[in-house]
Amino acid sequence: MKDKIKDNPVILSKSEIRKIKKANNKPRKKIGEVISKNTNNNIIEVINVRKSYLSGSVITEVLKGVTLNIEKGDFAVLFGKSGSGKSTLLNIISGLDRPSEGEVIVANNNLVYYKDSQLTKFRRENVSFIFQSYNLLQNLNGYDNVETGAYLQKNKEKVLDIHKLFEEFEIEDIKYKYPSQMSGGQQQRISILRALSKNADIIFADEPTGALDEKTSQAVLKVLQYINKQYGTTIVMVSHDPSVAELCNKIIKLKLGKIDEIKINQNPKIL
Ligand SMILES: Nc1ncnc2c1ncn2[C@@H]1O[C@H](COP(=O)(O)OP(=O)(O)OP(=O)(O)O)[C@@H](O)[C@H]1O
Ligand SMILES: [Mg+2]
Repeated sequence: MKDKIKDNPVILSKSEIRKIKKANNKPRKKIGEVISKNTNNNIIEVINVRKSYLSGSVITEVLKGVTLNIEKGDFAVLFGKSGSGKSTLLNIISGLDRPSEGEVIVANNNLVYYKDSQLTKFRRENVSFIFQSYNLLQNLNGYDNVETGAYLQKNKEKVLDIHKLFEEFEIEDIKYKYPSQMSGGQQQRISILRALSKNADIIFADEPTGALDEKTSQAVLKVLQYINKQYGTTIVMVSHDPSVAELCNKIIKLKLGKIDEIKINQNPKIL
């Protein structure tokens, strides 16, 4: 099958289609010994991940055998051109989507063997998200939006003090404003506090500054850098911007669904 999908797109037989559909939508059956623990200081290990999308009987392979690892406390970026597979990979690492092949081990969970309900539990317990489009609840003010993040943390001892967060990030002026009364940068800061208040081990951010101007982007990235340093939170960010990648200690470059280069940046630029 691998040979067949080398040149996209390719028409598949019914049984091949069934196989890919199943892999994309259902937990994999355990056969023999399954890796369920991370090795060394890694919190994320991706092993030979492939992802194919089906449209009728036409298949497009979007990730073509991706292997990488991210250590606890890394500020990593998935970097590459539009269409290189960054978001697809981020969604697979964060348990929002399933690979067609390969293994994904995150915080000692092998995600490919998990049912949807287990993936939901995994996300609730281990990760937070920051999206390009903020995704704030329009009928809640700043404080209450941040609280929706803290609410997802089952271990209430881990939750951070929300009033203190507003103070620390100097955005007390928007605490009781509604999203419609905030600028884009302010909304993104709220969505970052929402991710932070939960105090999860990993924050996933897909183009978090994609909708912001240069100055606001810098402010938001500075916050992410601070969180990574101050709380030791592992951050995995998606970006196509080289000046954003410079801030990270691990730069994972994707090209056409493959790893082009993994660069360890000894001296990340500090904002
Ligand atoms: N649900 C889907 N069905 C079919 N093809 C898809 C699907 N999602 C993504 N793709 C294809 O996979 C490729 C990679 O998409 P992806 O969104 O991961 O890229 P990206 O690197 O995040 O790009 P961008 O910088 O534009 O966000 C693209 O060619 C896209 O068209
Ligand atoms: Mg994307």
